[in-house]
Amino acid sequence: MRTQVCIVGAGPAGLLLGHLLRAEGVECVVIERRSPEYVLGRIRAGVLEQITVSLMERLGLDGRLKAEGLPHDGFNLADGERLIRIDVAALTGKQVVVYGQTELTRDLMAAREERGLEVIYDAEDVALHEVDGDAPFVTYRKDGAERRVDCRFIAGCDGFHGPSRKAVPASVGREYERVYPFGWLGILADVPPCNHELIYANHERGFALASMRSETRSRYYVDVPLSERIEDWPDERIWDELAIRLGPEAAAQMTRGPALEKSIAPLRSYVFAPLRHGSLLLCGDAAHIVPPTGAKGLNLAASDVHYAAEALTGFFRANDGDAIAGYSDRALARVWKAERFSWSLTRLMHRFPEDGAFERAMQVAELDYIATSRAAQTSLAENYVGLPI
Ligand code: FAD
Ligand code: DHB
Repeated sequence: MRTQVCIVGAGPAGLLLGHLLRAEGVECVVIERRSPEYVLGRIRAGVLEQITVSLMERLGLDGRLKAEGLPHDGFNLADGERLIRIDVAALTGKQVVVYGQTELTRDLMAAREERGLEVIYDAEDVALHEVDGDAPFVTYRKDGAERRVDCRFIAGCDGFHGPSRKAVPASVGREYERVYPFGWLGILADVPPCNHELIYANHERGFALASMRSETRSRYYVDVPLSERIEDWPDERIWDELAIRLGPEAAAQMTRGPALEKSIAPLRSYVFAPLRHGSLLLCGDAAHIVPPTGAKGLNLAASDVHYAAEALTGFFRANDGDAIAGYSDRALARVWKAERFSWSLTRLMHRFPEDGAFERAMQVAELDYIATSRAAQTSLAENYVGLPI
């Protein structure tokens, strides 16, 4: 098979890029190693920035997002004693929208046929070849047969563990990384949320987040040491811990219910640079990871894809090689700022095992500063809604 752009990975980044390219008349095919059901079974992000919503709008795929997404005007930080409300709408004039990554992915998947986007699922042994030159190709196995896709560009949208980033020679790429000494234990349940807006809590027992997917479905997290096993966390233990960490007011409003899903996700900050090598463009988690505090990961994947789609469209429309050459710097400028925000909010809201009394005093002082300073709240708010693209 021959196409203009071969996209590796059909998570949100790969599907969004595929749709954006198809909308501009660029030929592409998406190759995914898992089944559609598996991809939809991964419970992950829940908060969309305006730029992500706008991309769905531009594609005309925002029907369900408009109808079912929950626009939020603000969020809360809890410091053990009080709720500090960040009035994002008043401070920035913008909102975020609570809409699950699963639902966004479902909408992009459902529009495949209508938009002529070919996605090959259950592809085994996906491998990238000759990304240095201008005739790269991708090989994979499907139904026992070896297949090959020749293309002009490969878009690596295959998440943190995919093969795309590894196709860049070590001498060319540089890794920046910080691994955190805890993970987020998440629980999803069909119970109404305890609060109409999200609460990020820093309690002496650790971090907690009260989030939601709808008026009837809640998503909560607590941080746990990496040594913890999910088997040691029956539902009641998670609810008990949430009730303590979120504080008495939220606990009084919290409805418990059986877990639809439970998992532990490690926290990591990671950037691979550059995002382009030869004919390979990396987008989303394939190139960078943020800790989930602040809800930036999916939205960063969306901004990468926006820049990549512009660069690729410029190339095929006007033979504009500069746009391709500029992709990495353009995307990384936004990536680094989101990395900074996610790292600093993680630092502020979690108890680090190495922290002493001084570090704890710094957290208390910063939370107090945020509670009393409009400038500090504005800075948080403009990062939370997402920096401009
Ligand atoms: P992925 O979603 O990882 O998709 C990559 C795809 O590539 C997958 O379908 C995978 O199967 C496929 N793939 C892998 N290897 C291969 C291969 N060899 N060949 C072909 N295909 C392959 N972000 C937010 O913005 N807001 C949030 O609220 C938020 N909360 C989060 C909560 C948790 C618990 C976690 C874990 C993450 C959260 N994130 C959040 C981050 C967000 O989920 C990711 O940043 C997002 O999924 C990135 O999308 P992606 O398409 O780049 O990668
Ligand atoms: C969710 C995840 C986040 O990382 C976050 O900051 C807010 C909400 C969620 O899964 O709902």
